[in-house]
Amino acid sequence: MAIERWHERLLGKRRLAIWDEAEASLVFASGMAAISTTLWAYARPGTVILHSDPVYGGTDFQLKKILPQFGIRSIGFAAEGGGKAMQTAAAQARGSEAVIAAIFLETPANPTNGLVDIAAARRVAEDLAAVGRRPPVIVDNTFLGPLYQTPLAHGADVAVTSLTNYGGGHPDLIAGGCSGARAMLEPIRCMRTILGTMCDPHTGWLLMRSLETLKLRMTASAEGARQVAEFLKSHPRVASVWYLGFLPLDHADREDFERQCKNPGSTFAFEVRGGEAEAFAVLNRLKVIKLAVSLGGTETLASHPAAVTHSDIAPDEQIRLGITPSLIRLSIGIENPGDLIADLDQALTA
Ligand SMILES: Cc1ncc(COP(=O)(O)O)c(C=O)c1O
Repeated sequence: MAIERWHERLLGKRRLAIWDEAEASLVFASGMAAISTTLWAYARPGTVILHSDPVYGGTDFQLKKILPQFGIRSIGFAAEGGGKAMQTAAAQARGSEAVIAAIFLETPANPTNGLVDIAAARRVAEDLAAVGRRPPVIVDNTFLGPLYQTPLAHGADVAVTSLTNYGGGHPDLIAGGCSGARAMLEPIRCMRTILGTMCDPHTGWLLMRSLETLKLRMTASAEGARQVAEFLKSHPRVASVWYLGFLPLDHADREDFERQCKNPGSTFAFEVRGGEAEAFAVLNRLKVIKLAVSLGGTETLASHPAAVTHSDIAPDEQIRLGITPSLIRLSIGIENPGDLIADLDQALTA
């Protein structure tokens, strides 16, 4: 077997490509390494990146604070705005005569679970080809992937994932993945080599282990999440539950959910009645559920997006994006759902 093949096997790349239904995949030192390297591979000074809003705090920082220092602008469009919002963002970029380097989507979005239509983004990209260059459609698939959503099958060119989360599944590794056609990955592979953002061999070995249990872990977490979400929905101290399984038939995201997602997954947010103080009080009373910003692991975690993962975003912008002070994000693990429900019940009613 060629050395290259051995290396790919060692780093678990074949397994990720199979889950992502991709020709090939690359692994990175973290999810942010995968996202940053992909954006750097396709963006150049003077170009613009169109992106859905909200996105993970680190990606938001990269798009709005780091890349502009290198002459790369970003134009956001509301996740819930559909193809129309993407077209408006594209027209705005073209109005300033800037080349669109990439269309970046995060769907479901962290932490709101807002959905973005991947096929609509592909259509916008194809339309841009007629007037210049077709930008790649890059999708952050961290929240549902790779088991419950395969962005490449819906028109994405590149699917990026934080493997620190569901892919790794145990809080013992940090890694990221990127899948697509070999030709699309080539500039990213080259940038990865020079930046040195690749995954180390030991983490690759851990990922090989983790990807064997991906389906078992994600299935158990999704079932637990369904039970916890049902409980929260009926709790008098809970104002709203942003669980994809509860999308009403007439909700704008419902069609995207049915087309793109195979399951609501196990990361979702809910709002407690009151504001930040009430949310903090609930978080502080949790005993079984741990407070941490990660997600997608075997242990259930809770976090306060406005104060932690999205704290770099200005308060008025947070509100505009739906990241309210009373919002708590949960990532359900594989514990007995009854224990999680009892813990949330005591924390909410104390
Ligand atoms: C949607 C999303 N994208 C990217 C990342 C970044 O991943 P990492 O922590 O592996 O850099 C995260 C982290 O939680 C995330 O939730």
